Formats: sequence, structure tokens, C-alpha cells
Amino acid sequence: MVKKWLLVMILLWPFHASVASDVYSHRIAQFKANKQAMQNIAQALAYDDFEAIADAANQIEVWGQAMARYFPEGSNQTPSQALDAIWEQPEAFAKAIDLNIKAAQRLQDIALDEDGSKLPQAMRDLSASCKACHQSFRY
Ligand code: HEC
Repeated sequence: MVKKWLLVMILLWPFHASVASDVYSHRIAQFKANKQAMQNIAQALAYDDFEAIADAANQIEVWGQAMARYFPEGSNQTPSQALDAIWEQPEAFAKAIDLNIKAAQRLQDIALDEDGSKLPQAMRDLSASCKACHQSFRY
């Protein structure tokens, strides 16, 4: 019986390991894209390129909507920088995601309204929502 379970575990192990690393590599790719999107927004701000700002903000929002699904419990093996706090304080993590989504939506709305005067503050708010989550939930 023990041997049988051992065999099952050995057979399942690589499966679990590869699922975890798929989740990890996907979210890292998305966070790198977030960083690029923020750089694109900063550049576009200098030219009042409203369309580029709205596109980048939308991309950040879409990832925000999906983000929670890419943090299954315990998916922070090395080299992940995700903290256990994500699963210990699920409500706070959900709230941090929500703030990020709302800030991205707001920036997008302002860009679509072509209201250049409100863009810099909305950009700062979005950036603050990234940093707030990193402070609580990332090494
Ligand atoms: C709700 C939480 C949360 C929000 C919001 C968030 N991040 Fe992150 N971010 C994380 C976590 C957690 C990690 C670590 C993931 C890991 O290593 O497994 C991370 C990792 C990163 C990384 C490192 C990727 C790498 O190469 O290792 C970058 C860059 C990044 N985030 C940028 C951003 C930007 C830019 C924003 C805002 C537009 C943002 N993040 C919003 C939680 C968040």
C-alpha cells in the first residue's frame, strides 16, 4: 500500500511542479509587461498621446482582473518573490488587486476623455497601487 502511494506521488510530482512553474512564468511575464506599460505611459504623457495611455492602462487592468488566478496557494517556491502573506491575508491581497484595477480604469477613462490635466495624478495613483502591493506581498 505504501509503495503504491509512493508510486502515485512520484508520478504526480512532475505534473504539480510544472503547473506551478507555468503559473509562475506567466505571472512574471505579465508583471514585466506591466513595467513596460508604465514606461509607455510615462513616455506617452510627454506627448499627450491619449490613445497609447488608454491602451497601456487597459492592458494593466486586464492583467489585474486575471491576477488572482495566477497565485494558487503556495506557489512561491524559489525564485519567486511572492510572500506567504498573499494566502495568509487573502482579503488584503484582493483589496490590493482591486485598487490596482480601479486606478488603471481611472487612468484609462481620463485618457479617453482626453483630460490632460488629470493624467499625471492618475498615473501617480496607479504607480502607488503597484508599490503598495509590492510592499505588503513581495520580498
Ligand atoms: C496585488 C499585488 C500586485 C500588484 C497590484 C502589482 N504587483 Fe507587481 N508583483 C507582485 C508580486 C507578488 C510579485 C512577485 C511575483 C513572484 O515573484 O512570484 C510581483 C512582481 C513584479 C515584478 C518583478 C517581475 C520579475 O522580473 O521578477 C515587476 C517588474 C512588477 N511586479 C511590476 C508591477 C507593476 C508595474 C505594477 C503596477 C502597474 C504591479 N507590479 C502591480 C504583486 C503585485
